[in-house]
Amino acid sequence: MFGTIADVTETSAASADGAAPAEDNAAPVDGQAPPWWRSAVFYQVYPRSFADSDGDGVGDLGGIKEKLGYLELLGIDALWICPVMRSPMADGGYDVSDPRDIDPLFGGMAAMDALIAAAHRRGIKITMDLVPNHTSDRHRWFVDALAAAPGSGERARYIFRDGRGPDGSEPPNNWPSIFGGPAWTRITEPDGTPGQWYLHIFAPEQPDLNWENPEVVADFEQTLRFWLDRGVDGFRIDVAHGMAKPPGLPDMANVSTKMLVHDDDDPRFNNPGVHEIHRRFRKVLDEYPHAVSIGEVWVDDNTRFGEYVRPDELHMAFNFRLAETAFDAEAVRHAVDNSLAAVAPVGASPTWTLSNHDIEREVTRYGGGVLGVARAKAMMMVELALPGAVFVYNGAELGLPNVDDLPEEALQDPVWERSGHTDRGRDGCRVPLPWEGELPPFGFTSAASSWLPAPPEWAKLTVESQLEEVGSTVSLYRMAIEMRANRAEFSGASVEWYGSPKGCLAFRRPGGLICALNATGAPIPLPPGELLLASADLIDGQLPPDSAAWLV
Ligand code: GLC
Repeated sequence: MFGTIADVTETSAASADGAAPAEDNAAPVDGQAPPWWRSAVFYQVYPRSFADSDGDGVGDLGGIKEKLGYLELLGIDALWICPVMRSPMADGGYDVSDPRDIDPLFGGMAAMDALIAAAHRRGIKITMDLVPNHTSDRHRWFVDALAAAPGSGERARYIFRDGRGPDGSEPPNNWPSIFGGPAWTRITEPDGTPGQWYLHIFAPEQPDLNWENPEVVADFEQTLRFWLDRGVDGFRIDVAHGMAKPPGLPDMANVSTKMLVHDDDDPRFNNPGVHEIHRRFRKVLDEYPHAVSIGEVWVDDNTRFGEYVRPDELHMAFNFRLAETAFDAEAVRHAVDNSLAAVAPVGASPTWTLSNHDIEREVTRYGGGVLGVARAKAMMMVELALPGAVFVYNGAELGLPNVDDLPEEALQDPVWERSGHTDRGRDGCRVPLPWEGELPPFGFTSAASSWLPAPPEWAKLTVESQLEEVGSTVSLYRMAIEMRANRAEFSGASVEWYGSPKGCLAFRRPGGLICALNATGAPIPLPPGELLLASADLIDGQLPPDSAAWLV
């Protein structure tokens, strides 16, 4: 049996002891309403895969604009749009050759302006994805750096070093690239001789910038202002725990390609200098009080993570604990507690996400098929019941699985090549959305096929078919998002845990919402209260396996 309020076992929250931190990143200022983003539902658009308006098989900004009605129906507050700036697309747009222009592939600047205006008319905010850690190798700066001499101002915008060994033929240190292989590439000097090496923590087409160079800082500040002046409502900051590099670029003790920093043993990320960089960004953001910054921060330690969201740094940071947690009540509770504890000392808003464009879709992670969908629905209700901001990755609301059998010739993620064809990379979670009809590409594009092919069995997962069905994943998302936005029971920054049967969890928000999750294989009696919503039909009044419910 789930417990009642009297059995509350523990309280876990930013305001657990009722005392607000001295300075609160997310607190109302001078009696004003809390900032819009504090408990917003963000919808992450992977633009190449959302909707194609010009028939080239690749999604674009016009496609997003055409689908704003759907997004409004879904009830989301804001979009996070993955990079749409000019890019040769070596890493799907995360290799930016001009940060202050929109790539023609996505419709150019006019399409961005039109999207901002149309989204705002519907009350939907727009946040863009900015990439400060690196540029494209086709960025004018990098082209100039290759043409200039070692030691020049052009090279000083990036991280060029001489190689090790008598003839400089060994990389300057042992760092691996996240995508496989060394994080260094040797160039040929303009005179034709083998030359210096440059650092690229990601693909060779993504040279790391030198953030000790004031020119680099100034240029990024200009980029922030450029988009804020055009009306965007904030940014997702890519690799926000990157940028700063340690003095002397020492070797890594335990060589690992992963981006998640477990201790302080990865010299590529989470160097102390990064916080000064975020303080510079925040000064610019503060000139636009409506705007939000959300950092991609793969840092495991709660104290280190919390440092990124101090009142003068990022507004929020992605916490990936839920996305990394199995469908297991104990583990989920642990992830929730940790995510709340990480931001509590600095008074920042927690964030929740189950998936994004870099990780396996939750339906697949939770076991795939009917089981995976049931669990994904249940976990969506858990995350939407929590205090803070929620990020929904496009297609999650349709219960899309990963596509792990894409034909090899279709794969585009640099990971596939860089790993010597041992790791298929992230394309499986980037397959274009199915909108309507019986056959691929399911209305995503008017072209014969989409840039990654959608599997024929997605015919039953299209937006068109799901919107008509009360029990569909998208219908559940709509109901849940609407309740979360409109009901007072979802208020309060804390989470009180109820006593619950093994394999289950239940918590209560101060406003009165109770969320119960049954991760066991048998039905469980519901906690006392009036049922608001359940992710599956009750069985004899009980909560079925692999489901969640909200009560008040
Ligand atoms: C971030 C992005 C990922 C990209 C990488 C390099 O992790 O989410 O998609 O490949 O940064 O920019």
